[in-house]
Amino acid sequence: MMKDGDNSMKDIVALCKRRGLIYPGSEIYGGLANTWDYGPYGVLLKNNVKQLWWKEIVMKRADIVGLDSGILMNPKVWEASGHLTEFTDPLIECKDCKKRFKGDDVKGDACPECSGSLGEAKKFNLMFATHIGPVADDKSITYLRPETAQGIFVNFKNVLDSTRVRLPFGIAQIGKAFRNEITPGNFTFRTLEFEQFELEYFVYPETADKFFADWADERLRWYVDLGLDSAKIHLKAHDKKDLAHYAKAVTDVEYKFPFGWSELEGIANRGDYDLVQHQKVSGESLEYTDDEGKKVMPYIIEPSGGVDRATLAFLVDAYREEEVKGEKRVVLALDPRLAPIRAAVLPLVKKEPVVTKAKEICDSLRNKFFVEYDESGTVGKRYRRQDEIGTPFCITVDFEGLESEPQTVTIRDRDTMEQKRIVIDQVGEWLAGKIN
Ligand code: GAP
Repeated sequence: MMKDGDNSMKDIVALCKRRGLIYPGSEIYGGLANTWDYGPYGVLLKNNVKQLWWKEIVMKRADIVGLDSGILMNPKVWEASGHLTEFTDPLIECKDCKKRFKGDDVKGDACPECSGSLGEAKKFNLMFATHIGPVADDKSITYLRPETAQGIFVNFKNVLDSTRVRLPFGIAQIGKAFRNEITPGNFTFRTLEFEQFELEYFVYPETADKFFADWADERLRWYVDLGLDSAKIHLKAHDKKDLAHYAKAVTDVEYKFPFGWSELEGIANRGDYDLVQHQKVSGESLEYTDDEGKKVMPYIIEPSGGVDRATLAFLVDAYREEEVKGEKRVVLALDPRLAPIRAAVLPLVKKEPVVTKAKEICDSLRNKFFVEYDESGTVGKRYRRQDEIGTPFCITVDFEGLESEPQTVTIRDRDTMEQKRIVIDQVGEWLAGKIN
């Protein structure tokens, strides 16, 4: 039976808590709204998302290098980037119930909550301010970065001077960003603290339109290749009037979440806005010298995605409820490359030599894969638990297999629930083939 959006999100949030994927932040103190912690399985899933992006964007390509810049930067960075004045949302407060709304969410003159009268829209800056040192005054103020991108721009000259990159080339990084969002929500979709994977791809200005279109196609393909339903993902161009202050054009990769089509990643043509601004404010030349000695200010094409949003989309897309022999089965049908645990090793019965052999197999796999040993409860219950965390394969050790020559185990496929026998010595290679 189809569930409406709210219900299926509730089921996913409940599964995440129950199975150690994602917990509410600071829960024993009553929580802190819109903060979430990744549990033992969630951190593995999120790390897989990050590693697959890093492999695709940095490792496999000769034209892109990596970076890991700081969260705190000289406040002049945010003056130059325009964030101090432009990174704002219109904030409207109801004069009666005092509830606050983001300007875009208010239609008409009345409060959407109590129909009371609304105050004037005020500009609200989304950056979290903090202070360095013991005195909290204007001189000690700095900001938690609202995007990782500026760390790349301020290191553009360093990377040019210390490596062999030539246009077109990219600098990529993964890291935390912070925004004091007026309307956070939808689980991990919009939060105050989140991780971004960002690529800044520097190109000759006359080639920018082509790279902009190519990167949008490329990024859409990445999500589909990792299993997102191609009917629930598309590219959507921004209207010119909705563009961020730095952008000439933006196309979003959008996914159809249970709460509606929403942005997973934005591909922007930032033109030469950032390098020109940093050159102006810092006084350092940020021009690129081509092979003929000509100076060029590169344009920047930026595919910028949210690690938490991508992780949420993979979770939502993989979530299935099925009926098997009259019982409900919940499955996370994640691509094996994303699955937190690659395989579980289960003794069919808690008896020797089955238990010892199962532990031995699990230990031999542990060097290469995240695997799990589980001997508690019926084998049916153990399968269901692994289904719920998305483990693609359960390796079961039984008497029959240990008595055969050569010795075998059964491997159960999460999605088809079919089992097949495989020689124990071949399990590692077989699993590697499935995961890579
Ligand atoms: N450097 C460009 C930039 O930051 P953005 O569209 O504001 O562009 C990029 O953010 C991505 O970061 C978004 O597509 C989204 O995936 C993620 N993101 C932005 N704000 C977020 C939030 N409050 N919570 C979770 N993810 C967020």
